Amino acid sequence: MNQTVKIAPSVLAADFARLGEQVAQCEAAGADFIHIDVMDGRFVPNISMGMVVVEALRKVSRLPLDVHLMILEPERYIADFALAGASHILVHAEATPHVHRAIQQVKEHGLAAGLVLNPGTPLDFFENLLPDLDEALLMTVNPGFGGQQLIPSSLQRLETLRQMRDQRNPNCLIEVDGGINLETAPQLVRRGADILVAGSLIFKGDIAHNIAALRKSYAP
Ligand code: DX5
Ligand code: ZN
Repeated sequence: MNQTVKIAPSVLAADFARLGEQVAQCEAAGADFIHIDVMDGRFVPNISMGMVVVEALRKVSRLPLDVHLMILEPERYIADFALAGASHILVHAEATPHVHRAIQQVKEHGLAAGLVLNPGTPLDFFENLLPDLDEALLMTVNPGFGGQQLIPSSLQRLETLRQMRDQRNPNCLIEVDGGINLETAPQLVRRGADILVAGSLIFKGDIAHNIAALRKSYAP
C-alpha cells in the first residue's frame, strides 16, 4: 500500500523568486504532482496565485499540476485553468451552489476532477459525487494558509471517507492537505490517504532531503 502513496508538494511554501528551480528539485526528488493553491481573498482570507503561475509551471515541469481552487464560484474559471495547463482541478463544495456542474465542467475539459471539503463540512457531501470523482480532497486544516497544525478530528473523517470511497468508487484517490509532517504523515497513510500534500515540510530547507524523509516516515 505504501508504495502507491503519492507526494504533492504545495508551492504555496516555495520561494517564489526561485519557483522553477524548486519545482525542478521536487521533480528530481520523485514528487508525483505539483500542488498549486489558488486563493481569491473571498472564499479564504488570503490571496495567492492564479493562471499565470500554472501556465509558467506547465512550461518547465512534466509533472501533473494539481490545481486547488479556493475561490468562490470556481465554475467561472475552470476553462481558464484548463487552458493554462492544469492536469487536475479541485473545487470546494462550500464555494458554489453548482458543485456538480463544476465537476462536470472539469471532466469535459478532459482533466481529472476533484472535490474538496473543509474540516467543518459533513462528509455526506462526497456521497453523491464520488462516482464522478478522480480525487476526494479532505482538508486537514482550514484552508487559506500554510504552516498550520493538522486538526485531530481529520483522522476519524479520513477513516470514514476511506470506507465510503472503497464502496462507491475505488478508483478515486483520497488526498489530504494541511499540517502534514513526519508525525502526521504515517497516521494519515495508515488511515487510507493516497496523496499527501505538503508545503512547509518540503520547502523549508533541502527539498530532496525533505521529500526522502517524508517518504521514509510512512514506509513499513
Ligand atoms: C492550505 C493549502 C495547503 C497548504 C499546506 O489552504 O491548501 O495546500 O499549502 O501547507 P502546509 O503543508 O504548510 O500545511
Ligand atoms: Zn491545497
